[in-house]
Amino acid sequence: MKVAGRVRVPGDKSITHRALLLAAMARGTSHVGGALTSLDARSTARVLRQLGAAISPLRPDTVVTAKGAGRLRRSERTLDCGNSGTTTRLLLGLLAGHRFAATLTGDASLRRRPMRRVTGPLGRMGARFTEHGNADGLPLTIRGGVLQPLRYEMPVSSAQIKSSLLLAGMVGGVEVGLREPHGRSRDHTERMLRAFGYEIAEQDGWIHFRPGGTIVPFDLQVPGDPSSAAFLVGAAVLAEAGELAVTGVGLNPTRTGFLPVLQRMGARIEVEEVESRVGEPVGDLIVGPAALRATSVSAAEVPAVIDEIPILAALASRAEGTTVFHDVGELRVKESDRLALIAENLRAVGSRADVVGDDLHVTGGDAPPRGAVRTAGDHRLAMAFKVLGTLPGARIRIDDLACAEVSFPDFTGTLRRIAADSRA
Ligand code: S3P
Repeated sequence: MKVAGRVRVPGDKSITHRALLLAAMARGTSHVGGALTSLDARSTARVLRQLGAAISPLRPDTVVTAKGAGRLRRSERTLDCGNSGTTTRLLLGLLAGHRFAATLTGDASLRRRPMRRVTGPLGRMGARFTEHGNADGLPLTIRGGVLQPLRYEMPVSSAQIKSSLLLAGMVGGVEVGLREPHGRSRDHTERMLRAFGYEIAEQDGWIHFRPGGTIVPFDLQVPGDPSSAAFLVGAAVLAEAGELAVTGVGLNPTRTGFLPVLQRMGARIEVEEVESRVGEPVGDLIVGPAALRATSVSAAEVPAVIDEIPILAALASRAEGTTVFHDVGELRVKESDRLALIAENLRAVGSRADVVGDDLHVTGGDAPPRGAVRTAGDHRLAMAFKVLGTLPGARIRIDDLACAEVSFPDFTGTLRRIAADSRA
């Protein structure tokens, strides 16, 4: 297989969610160019419309206009967050500072995901919660109100928890001090809030948020999603020939941890930073084929590669030696039990992979991967195994590839356009 060409990836999922949420909180019209149009982004737009924001349809190559009223309005209907944990947890932070009740739910995967990690600290700030049957999950009702300041040591490094609490501080007009246990999770919320005049200081591992800014209408151009780029980079690394340029990708270091990991594994990846967009570095990735060797991914590195572990594990199954991903227990509470399913599916296609405590061990081999993959509707599992399926002689059946639409519209078409049989 030859993987070559120049390609753009869809807009960053994390930044799109945050841009829409903040636009809904501004009084007036914001413009979001390059927004992700995937199912998850649509979930955020849908619930924000229910809460009073006027948001234009999310269409590829179309600037989204989002008119907020300066605050959210009560909705009588349940807010369906679809498959999106980010929508749910960040929205709970905003709702905590609004004096009305709102009920949130989601699809079967989202309803199982833990919510007390945000409802616990939001409750300490003053929000009230009612769980509807599913302990520590959705559906649940939040009743926001007047909030208290919070000082909180987070049990896990998570941008969703951190952002939820910062957004609560923003709406409630109260100070918030947070500490992440190990490794820094993505910092898009901090960067955006600073751009609106909020003070966010960092000291001794603590993040200190102070009220004082104002969310005003804004224009923003969303960079390409590095997490989506990682799948195409993976395909180019596994290829027999070619050179792939992925352009306009967000290069925020809290997101690009997969690049040093892949470089340690022997991948040739050039990073060309070209510009800065609203406080986020953006550039191109140029990648070619490489013979891979195993590496060790430390616990401190995990937050910056959290969404890339499925593709990194797939690549590790082609590397010489055993790669260990340390302390990746968080993968159990993603869109699926990703930790178990990465290992199970790698074994299903003939590789050696084991979960040892909270660590994932993957041993590489060079037999063509063959077998049936069960995704449990998890977009990143589907895409990782689709990339593995580009290897010569591979025969991988994926039960659900349509779920890639959660984060990467037209993933299959994009992969088809860059990958061509080198013997053709
Ligand atoms: C996200 C944070 C991460 C990530 C998710 C998006 C965000 O979750 O897995 O895809 O936009 O804040 P955690 O922060 O819970 O690890």
